[in-house]
Amino acid sequence: MRFLRLVTLVFGLGIVMADAQLRAEEAKPTAEKPPVSFYRDIRPLLQDRCQGCHQPAKALGGFSLTSYAALKKGGESEQPGFEPGKPDDSELVLQITPRGTEPPAMPKGAAALKPDQVELVRRWIAEGAKDDTPDAAEIVVDREHPPVYNVPPVITSLDYSPDGTLLAVSGYHEVLLHRADAASGELNGIVARLVGLSERIESARFSPDGKRLAVTGGSPGRFGEIQIWDVAGGNLQQSVLVTYDTLYGVSWSGDGAKVAFGCGDNTCRAIDAATGKQVFFQGAHNDWVLDTVFSVDGSHLVSVSRDRSMKLNEVATERFVDNITSITPGALKGGLITVDRHPTKDELLIGGADGVPKIYQMHRTKARQIGDDFNLIRAFEGMPGRIFSVRYSDDGARIVAGSSNDGQGEVRVYNEADAKLVSRFASEHGAVYSTVFRPHTNEVAVGGFDGMVRIYDANSGSMIREFMPVPLVPAVQQAAK
Ligand code: HEC
Repeated sequence: MRFLRLVTLVFGLGIVMADAQLRAEEAKPTAEKPPVSFYRDIRPLLQDRCQGCHQPAKALGGFSLTSYAALKKGGESEQPGFEPGKPDDSELVLQITPRGTEPPAMPKGAAALKPDQVELVRRWIAEGAKDDTPDAAEIVVDREHPPVYNVPPVITSLDYSPDGTLLAVSGYHEVLLHRADAASGELNGIVARLVGLSERIESARFSPDGKRLAVTGGSPGRFGEIQIWDVAGGNLQQSVLVTYDTLYGVSWSGDGAKVAFGCGDNTCRAIDAATGKQVFFQGAHNDWVLDTVFSVDGSHLVSVSRDRSMKLNEVATERFVDNITSITPGALKGGLITVDRHPTKDELLIGGADGVPKIYQMHRTKARQIGDDFNLIRAFEGMPGRIFSVRYSDDGARIVAGSSNDGQGEVRVYNEADAKLVSRFASEHGAVYSTVFRPHTNEVAVGGFDGMVRIYDANSGSMIREFMPVPLVPAVQQAAK
């Protein structure tokens, strides 16, 4: 306490005297207090509290603070973000400091920074606002500097717009929107590159009306992010940072109001798509939650996890209702990875480590008997390896599943009603991580480890066309630039 008062006193003096000499003294690092580091102390703080509204893809007030240079430049008020050595004249400090009894202007609509955090920013500026960003971390990837690829990206997610005209393909730091009917082998199909903060993209899904795209990802061990893009304009509407690891398995409620996702901290959450505010939180799983899906009417949310269970939750009460799959030891042979819902019925298609696609009913109609698997409707023929992707066709008549086993992949299309195998393909191209039917057609898009997108005829299993979804620059050519 006494220590705090002393700090306040020193600062009070510094302001009153406005004495260069004293400021120089202040700036001298003391034994107890090493100088504040931009890279270690300031950047993560701003990243956590401010970047959702101030980043290259969404720079409110014209202001981005994802790099030292952008922070220095400031925003539309044309004030630089800071004046080295002068915290009291620095826009950054003014914005986060309470004005009399008024709360600080920033972060807008959220809790103010804690006094010690404001103090940290002040001290960094007082100490000269030095940039200690390591060279390697200075590679900027944003809208003006889209990712440069020397090798194809692993494709973790594919999704068609509901009208079947656009295909969203996950890349590195971005999701690429392709024209679904572009010619084979060419890049002429790229409609937009949605470049955001997240290095790793785990999932992307169009909203039910096709106007928005929800994306989950993040940077492993640093932050998780959910992005919501306006498809027509290619603009970022929301960037919400959640937890300290990548986010998985995004899904929309049927009315387009909510977006759910799974987290590496074993929670399943949902946000309001318009405001970004968290509206659902469930902590019933005990391993990573990898995929989610809403009931037809949006009242329930289903989550699947590496903990082998599929859980039913009530959205309004945020209450865990039931384990949909059997939780008897031995009934499930491994973690669950992917879930999809029938287009018009509350039936759930799952896939995971045991390689067997299965359909379950969402709501239990009989009391649980220990050891039963009552909700199971149908199990399909087992596939080699783990299933990473399952999807229904838009009419619900067929399902597609993609798997991977020791780097070998396979895709199978089955009839939903009688579990009959319709076709199998893509086994010569390595691990498959994503498969999806193109609405109103017989086409299935497949992506995985080798980075190519391949389109197959679901009836015959023959390939219709293939293309590299990103502009590829061979390493030699790039070095010569
Ligand atoms: C919910 C969105 C949101 C968050 C979070 C947010 N800001 Fe802002 N910020 C805005 C908007 C919008 C403006 C434009 C001015 C206004 O509407 O008040 C702005 C303007 C600014 C400006 C003025 C830029 C200029 O030159 O006019 C600064 C500086 C700033 N914010 C700093 C911060 C800092 C620092 C944080 C984190 C502690 C933060 N903001 C968090 C929305 C946000």
